[in-house]
Amino acid sequence: MRGRTWAAGGTALGLAALILAAWHVASSRAVAAPTDEREVQAGRALFATHCATCHGEGGRGDGASASGFATRPSDLADGRLMNGLPDEFLVSVITHGGPAQGLAPTMPPFDRTLSADQIRRLVAFVRTLAKPDYRGGPAGLTRPPRAPKQPIFFNHVIHAGSFQIPCQYCHADARRSEYAGLPSVERCVGCHKIIGVADNPEIGKIHEYARRGAPIPWARVFKVPEFTYFPHKAHVRADVACQDCHGPIERMPVVGADTGPALTNDLAHLVGLHPPSRPLTMGWCVECHRRENAARATRAPLDCVACHH
Ligand code: HEC
Ligand code: HEC
Ligand code: HEC
Ligand code: HEC
Ligand code: HEC
Ligand code: HEC
Repeated sequence: MRGRTWAAGGTALGLAALILAAWHVASSRAVAAPTDEREVQAGRALFATHCATCHGEGGRGDGASASGFATRPSDLADGRLMNGLPDEFLVSVITHGGPAQGLAPTMPPFDRTLSADQIRRLVAFVRTLAKPDYRGGPAGLTRPPRAPKQPIFFNHVIHAGSFQIPCQYCHADARRSEYAGLPSVERCVGCHKIIGVADNPEIGKIHEYARRGAPIPWARVFKVPEFTYFPHKAHVRADVACQDCHGPIERMPVVGADTGPALTNDLAHLVGLHPPSRPLTMGWCVECHRRENAARATRAPLDCVACHH
């Protein structure tokens, strides 16, 4: 009996040591991101079996059947593009196929062939291919509430996160006008004349709008009432980041936001609580104006006519 208790005690101690060691690995990983070598080796073997025909042994997008695709299988070794993508994005594409993130259906889904653990190992291996080295990616994807269904699946994670196209390349009026503006069809076509046309139906839709000479009818997300004046120009010039007001757009596969007045928030104020004001309400504008003026000596207006005229 006693022996067994000791043995159990020993096991518990051993477990504690293991957990500590695992914790140590996990915490050092957060700094330098070397991944468990066994996971990587397992991932390498899976990659050779399931992915190399298209992506090539080294992941460069040069597998035996790669030349058959109009959209080349991605170069998974290009750290400049891959390192900006969160693990969650890679897992989503491998599990559900390219269309889950708006990419071409020629990237097939593996949810019937591979387990979640196997996909995790694949991602661990793919990360080791990156040049420049992968040193821990951005935080996961953000799935904001109330994202409307858009006419084309346009993914900011790919354009702004991975390819790092500057926000104002597409929202070009933000610095000089009241509106940030949305890119014209011609601007999309400028890049997508070649990229992805042949085998991505989402990109095919761009050309359909261009051919008809019709603008893409994007559904609006952020909107203040007509009687309010909101100028982007003043805010961009005062170095307020887009993300301060819109959230981490570069991590959103689809844009959405919960904005405007809400009864629960109003009621909380009524009973003396002070929850933060909801985005795009008057309280939200005024609180930031007060805060910025105090912190940075800006001259953000608090008088009614500045915002209502
Ligand atoms: C039949 C060919 C094929 C196979 C097999 C295949 N892929 Fe792909 N993969 C593609 C193509 C084509 C793309 C590019 C899609 C696009 O850019 O629209 C792609 C894109 C990707 C991406 C997205 C990267 C980016 O550019 O954002 C990842 C990650 C990926 N593949 C991983 C894998 C892994 C891991 C496997 C094996 C489990 C695999 N692929 C198997 C063809 C394939
Ligand atoms: C500066 C160049 C550039 C511009 C401008 C651009 N794109 Fe892209 N887009 C890309 C690149 C690069 C990719 C990634 C292609 C790949 O890996 O398959 C991409 C991918 C896509 C995809 C597939 C993945 C996804 O995001 O869902 C769609 C759809 C798309 N773009 C739509 C658009 C639309 C609509 C516009 C105009 C509002 C636009 N793009 C403007 C460069 C651009
Ligand atoms: C390649 C072009 C492109 C780039 C780069 C881009 N966007 Fe967008 N953005 C779009 C398109 C197209 C839409 C409309 C579809 C949608 O809502 O996803 C949009 C929508 C938005 C919206 C919602 C607009 C509304 O309806 O209220 C915001 C906010 C936004 N983008 C901010 C950003 C920020 C911030 C960045 C940089 C981190 C950025 N965008 C980079 C093309 C782009
Ligand atoms: C101080 C907060 C704030 C900042 C900073 C800000 N926006 Fe906005 N944005 C808003 C508000 C409020 C609206 C709704 C405006 C309206 O209804 O007229 C909006 C609307 C938009 C829209 C919808 C279309 C349009 O033109 O109104 C886009 C796109 C957009 N913003 C992109 C951006 C980008 C890109 C940046 C950074 C360069 C940025 N915003 C910076 C608050 C902000
Ligand atoms: C994240 C902080 C922040 C938020 C939120 C914000 N503002 Fe501002 N606002 C500023 C700053 C900073 C300035 C610039 C002050 C300066 O130029 O010295 C400014 C300036 C302005 C100006 C003056 C423009 C000019 O030409 O001088 C107006 C009008 C304005 N904001 C309206 C709004 C409205 C309406 C909202 C809400 C829908 C809003 N702001 C939300 C920070 C913010
Ligand atoms: C910094 C910008 C800003 C300033 C300053 C400002 N407002 Fe507003 N106000 C807003 C915004 C944004 C809304 C719209 C909020 C919403 O969606 O209901 C609004 C809404 C309102 C509404 C409609 C309320 C409702 O619930 O629909 C009234 C009335 C109003 N403001 C009066 C005033 C008066 C009076 C002042 C001066 C004491 C003032 N505002 C100062 C930004 C401002």
